[in-house]
Amino acid sequence: MTQVKKICCIGAGYVGGPTCAVIALKCPHIQVTIVDLNQNRIDAWNSDELPIYEPGLDEVVKEARGRNLFFSTDVDKGIAEADLIFVSVNTPTKKSGIGAGFAADLKFLQLATRRIAEVATSPKIVVEKSTVPCRTADSMRTILEANHRPGVTFDILSNPEFLAEGTAISDLFAPDRVLIGSLQTNSGKAACAALAEVYGNWVPKDRILTVGLWSSELSKLAANAMLAQRISSINALSAVCEATGANIDEVAYAVGKDTRVGAKFLKASVGFGGSCFQKDILNLVYLAESLHLPEVARYWRAVVEMNEYQKERFSRKVVETLFNTITGKKIAILGWAFKKDTGDTRESPSISIANHFLDEKARITIYDPKVTEEQIWLDLTDEGTKSAEPIKPHISIQKSAEEACKDAEAIVVCTEWDEFKTLDWQKIYDNCPRPAFIFDGRLMLDRAALQKIGFKVTTIGTGDGL
Ligand code: NAD
Ligand code: UDX
Repeated sequence: MTQVKKICCIGAGYVGGPTCAVIALKCPHIQVTIVDLNQNRIDAWNSDELPIYEPGLDEVVKEARGRNLFFSTDVDKGIAEADLIFVSVNTPTKKSGIGAGFAADLKFLQLATRRIAEVATSPKIVVEKSTVPCRTADSMRTILEANHRPGVTFDILSNPEFLAEGTAISDLFAPDRVLIGSLQTNSGKAACAALAEVYGNWVPKDRILTVGLWSSELSKLAANAMLAQRISSINALSAVCEATGANIDEVAYAVGKDTRVGAKFLKASVGFGGSCFQKDILNLVYLAESLHLPEVARYWRAVVEMNEYQKERFSRKVVETLFNTITGKKIAILGWAFKKDTGDTRESPSISIANHFLDEKARITIYDPKVTEEQIWLDLTDEGTKSAEPIKPHISIQKSAEEACKDAEAIVVCTEWDEFKTLDWQKIYDNCPRPAFIFDGRLMLDRAALQKIGFKVTTIGTGDGL
């Protein structure tokens, strides 16, 4: 059996960085090189200020970097030296052309694959780590076989990543499962065994699942679709709670006690965000449509539509509660990341909510403990494609929650950062005009204590006091 001695990971992002840093930590006998075309990102990985915030990541990188973990922009060298190559590049939703708005844009994956074919001079195991549509491995094989040097052979595996941001390191240390898909040929099975052996250095054998290539690819889309579906289900019920006086946390608790349903992932919210859920469901919708399964496509599309409804419903509730206008009013948004314990803002509900408030001509102050001011401006200007000038007078970004809330007519909690629970809410109240409104989009604050101070509290998924 091939023994993996050198690994290269193409893509030093939220997945490639933490995943391969953990492999390096757990497998000191394997040399791991993470490569990326983005010089700034690689420089950051080689510095004390890592490019992503993830609890526990600093310690992992500090221990392994320079020992058997390396970060480089020399993609070709990384490819040439490795026995096994993870392809962990971004696969965003296509913005134009066929499938725009739904299909995954595979240009980065295909460029990386082509590079592997052009550079490799020895046999390689090529591993899809990126989330991809079902049967992508087929097109990777075609690209590799059409461009490879004489005598060089490739095995392709699918090894989707299930880590969640904010808990990436603990997820990687103790995964629920590691999934490896391969062709059921002798060489496919041998490649699968070689990768399983790498994970076997710290993951119990019964958690390493080996399946066919297409099942592995589809399982990743299925897992994300079903997780997001739970959130859309609970968020749909949160609207019913608000209309009836039921409490969504109590409903989720009661429902989740049924072991067939389970308690996790039933927290109502302002809507799900993050780079994966929406993208992967849309990808599944596109796949279903391409397979002439319109009912299946419609079913999954509804999960995303419900999420849009939840974000819009929450924004609308703020406007309605503030006597149907927020024009010129100061609104504080607490939390810009799509969830706590990450600085990632991709598809963050805060962005949609802020845009809604901007349409209503409110003045917005924003605070997030981990998101940079520069990133917030990029998010508000569609990555810099829209001018910031028209919105500049309406936006201020603050360095603390207290500063953001000062003089605010409404405080809107969008991300569940722990520090929001222990703010000096009395002091904040003293600095707000009356009536002072709080909108808890994460069901995280002590509603009774805030009401006692004098706040008018609106909590998502609860009927009382609306
Ligand atoms: P990312 O954008 O953070 O990182 C991707 C990196 O790949 C970028 O730094 C980019 O510069 C680099 N890259 C692109 N093309 C390249 C090339 N040809 N050569 C070298 N480098 C190249 O993306 P991410 O969040 O790490 O996601 C990567 C993949 O993993 C996606 O398919 C995503 O769906 C999937 N995924 C993400 C998560 C998550 O929590 N973010 C979880 C599971 C799976
Ligand atoms: C998700 C999957 O969980 C992970 O397995 C996959 O590899 C990548 O996509 P991620 O997007 O990083 O991970 O975070 P996750 O914890 O799933 O949260 C996604 C969004 O759903 C966040 O906005 C979060 O706040 C929201 N959410 C999550 C809820 O609103 N309620 C919940 O009960 C759980």
